[in-house]
Amino acid sequence: MLVNTCVFDAYGTLFDVNAAARIAANEPNREIFKDVWPSVSNIWRMKQLQYTWLRSMTGSYTDFWSITQNSLDFALEAHKLQNDLVLRERLLALYWELQPYSEVSQMLKELKKNGIKIAILSNGSPEMLNGAVKSSNLYAVIDEIISVETVKIFKPSSLVYKQVEKIMECSKSDILFVSSNGWDIAGAAGFGFKTAWVNRLQEPIDRLAHKPMHIVEDLKSIPTFFSN
Ligand code: LAC
Repeated sequence: MLVNTCVFDAYGTLFDVNAAARIAANEPNREIFKDVWPSVSNIWRMKQLQYTWLRSMTGSYTDFWSITQNSLDFALEAHKLQNDLVLRERLLALYWELQPYSEVSQMLKELKKNGIKIAILSNGSPEMLNGAVKSSNLYAVIDEIISVETVKIFKPSSLVYKQVEKIMECSKSDILFVSSNGWDIAGAAGFGFKTAWVNRLQEPIDRLAHKPMHIVEDLKSIPTFFSN
């Protein structure tokens, strides 16, 4: 495969979107949250994604940090936890410094060592992405952090994917796009990127117009797509 640029989605792909709720649930004085955190985390993520799509469709863009707070407020209220402001602040602080999956650092170092250009392409606001990349010590291995903030529309709008060619100075066929979000992979494949879908939970393939080129169970094997 003649690709030399690897572009990663951020939330759910490099960074574990359940880490914030999981960590908070294991802290002292979180008796109620301990039982419901998986459901809160799931609703938080689902609403976060829905709000990006709906705001794109209705031309009412607001940045991903506001969307992340709006969706958390929905999820907390759905569990009658909306008055626990300490929990809300703690979850947001943890999301700002979201933990990467365990294999991320090693995998990125391997790509870097092999001369592959590395970028993040995410719905996240530049500040959020910088917060997560810095707290994970990944700054040195990532060449570019590309946010939707410049085009003010969310994935899977082709305007988002289109930014990459110009910024990374390459053509779409040089790019392997890696995401754990099936709908993001479908959007990127439709745009013309080569794609690898990270299917950690062994979910079915999304019934959308474009299918993934590769399917992997985690990020460990990504460097093998660039050998020779
Ligand atoms: C992102 C969303 C899809 O990082 O999680 O772009």
